[in-house]
Amino acid sequence: MNSQGGIAFKIGAYPSQKSPMSAPRQLFVTTALPYANGKFHVGHIMEYIQADIWVRFQRMQGHHVNFVGADDTHGAPIMIAAEKAGQTPQAFVADIAAGRKPYLDGFHISFDNWHSTDAPENHELARQIYRDLKSNDLIETRTIEQFFDPAKNMFLPDRYIKGECPKCHAKDQYGDNCEVCGSVYAPTDLINPYSALSGVTPELKHSEHFFFKLSDPRCVEFLEAWTQRVDANGKLVLQAEVANKIKEWFSVRTNADGTTSEGLGDWDISRDAPYFGIEIPDAPGKYFYVWLDAPVGYLASLKNLLTKRGQDYDAYMANPALEQYHFIGKDIVTFHTLFWPAMLKFSGRKTPDNVFVHGFLTVNNGEKMSKSRGTGLDPLKYLSLGMNPEWLRYYLAAKLSARNEDIDFNADDFMARVNSDLIGKYVNIASRAAGFLTKRFGGQLTHAFDPQGAALLQVIRAAAHDIAQLYETREFGKATREIMLLADKVNAYVDQNKPWDLAKDTTNNEALHQVCSVLINTFAVLTRYLAPVLPELAQAVQGFVGVDMQHWHSATDVATIAPYQHLMQRVTPEQLDALFEPPASPEPEKLTPGGEAIAPTISIDDFAKIDLRIAKIMNCEAVEGSTKLLRLTLDVGEGKMRNVFSGIASVYKPEDLVGQLTVMVANLAPRKMKFGVSEGMVLAASHADEKAQPGIHILTPWPGAQPGMRIH
Ligand code: 2FM
Ligand code: ZN
Repeated sequence: MNSQGGIAFKIGAYPSQKSPMSAPRQLFVTTALPYANGKFHVGHIMEYIQADIWVRFQRMQGHHVNFVGADDTHGAPIMIAAEKAGQTPQAFVADIAAGRKPYLDGFHISFDNWHSTDAPENHELARQIYRDLKSNDLIETRTIEQFFDPAKNMFLPDRYIKGECPKCHAKDQYGDNCEVCGSVYAPTDLINPYSALSGVTPELKHSEHFFFKLSDPRCVEFLEAWTQRVDANGKLVLQAEVANKIKEWFSVRTNADGTTSEGLGDWDISRDAPYFGIEIPDAPGKYFYVWLDAPVGYLASLKNLLTKRGQDYDAYMANPALEQYHFIGKDIVTFHTLFWPAMLKFSGRKTPDNVFVHGFLTVNNGEKMSKSRGTGLDPLKYLSLGMNPEWLRYYLAAKLSARNEDIDFNADDFMARVNSDLIGKYVNIASRAAGFLTKRFGGQLTHAFDPQGAALLQVIRAAAHDIAQLYETREFGKATREIMLLADKVNAYVDQNKPWDLAKDTTNNEALHQVCSVLINTFAVLTRYLAPVLPELAQAVQGFVGVDMQHWHSATDVATIAPYQHLMQRVTPEQLDALFEPPASPEPEKLTPGGEAIAPTISIDDFAKIDLRIAKIMNCEAVEGSTKLLRLTLDVGEGKMRNVFSGIASVYKPEDLVGQLTVMVANLAPRKMKFGVSEGMVLAASHADEKAQPGIHILTPWPGAQPGMRIH
């Protein structure tokens, strides 16, 4: 055991006694970085609360913690969402970042810093890590074939390619798996693939990609050892269920769909422009795949924090006693237990000490939220209803364990745990004793306890070590259960000694004084135990009993109390009803006689993107094999003809159209159709519900218009 914060103070080994001589632990703690394309949902808040409880517990032990988060800003989905919103990606993610504070402050999450993966620190660190991996001969380039959207002029991520499932022929399935039959395939296996962004048929194109050679024997050997590490007691360091799952990834195996996986494959870490991300050094037009730079954001946020404080990042990271922990959800285990440790290890950096994986949070039994029952638990709505954030912290703590099992938020259960346990068993201890002490004894407590009370207090104080051990190992459910069992003991003491009876006869003054003093002392100890979960309540109790609630080991003897003020309200059924009440339904759409509402407003710039031209129909013929389409040959004054298919065969005869002028979209991306390529679109009017109100009417300009004229 060394006093520099070695083995004895690592996870799972909470010191059995106060160790005033030993140096405090240095802890670097993170939660997963949320994508900057949406608000926080209650699942994010659960993870932050879980990590925050652990961090607050560590701080109460006197350890030094840097607890950081950041927005995960890069990648195609964010780039596309920004484009849809008519913003630059930078402005888009800045707007999202500006909305984080009310959630984090609202639920008492004590991050030391919140940063962004688009910040300069992250660009620098990601590029440096890449360079280090490259000089370690772990980066390789390979040419791959990938779908390309000619209309959008970009390579398509798998989730933006749709088409017919090659197995069950369900239409409109994603490029990587079928939601109908569950089969897994490559986007190139899809039948009639199309781009979900533009609708056009994607083309296969070659592109050079960069790979992190995870299949290199050095990586495999390291990761097998790292993921299966055991502590001094022979216990797996990673959660057993996580370590066991990972084991499978190293072996050759047959997947559920019959394909085989051959252990660790290399990891494709590059994406082609246009991409919102970090450009790869010496590779113009190539960007890091978002998952390469996302975890680097942990380091970037820490570096930003330390720099703001005037501390040296490199020196901090070089401390051999530094411990690094990541709280994450079970869906992103691969990234955190394979790619991330390998990136760190082979770029010569410190690897994480552990990754703590939690399950998912469902709401009200995971039932799909219907219109009538609302849409889940909206964290900001919870706060705006005046619901106490510490109720949710307590409830989640009561349900959380060190395992990665899913937990459910259940409204009835929530009310029972808050009202019966937290308030009924714990808060009431104070309210039952405080009035007598203030009115009858001027707020002064006695230390001459009755023997039963003294023994009770001793039992409660003696639980400190076990409860600390439960916090240390993230067994928060067990910790709160333990604390409530202690509260039960206190309440049994109250019931046996009945202070309200003692108070009826002044000859019992001494006994009343003793019982109430014992109660307030037990209350102070229980508050200390709950402080990581209920920091604001603990702060209020600190003011009430004059005992420091910030340190686990400091004394809890109460000498005097301040007049009692209500510490916590009960949750009401009305609040829960309001929480799950569906939002007021929006105004019904105003339909026009055309059967559809006017589309959202666009700018003049948006309109200017559409090049509408007068076109002369030079030729028109039926399309063999189609009852809907006519093939038009159009002249828009370019010195060449355009071939355009139009779904107007039910209304127009080819011979009636030849020689007429009409209007076409001249800059629409060419679209490959079954019968050939369509090089534009003819404008025509129809009712939204073509079946109910058939009829298609093509446009004709007033006399004088010439082919090729633009429509402004
Ligand atoms: O799954 C997600 O929401 C990712 N944005 C998590 C990233 S965690 C870390 F690597 F940044
Ligand atoms: Zn299918």
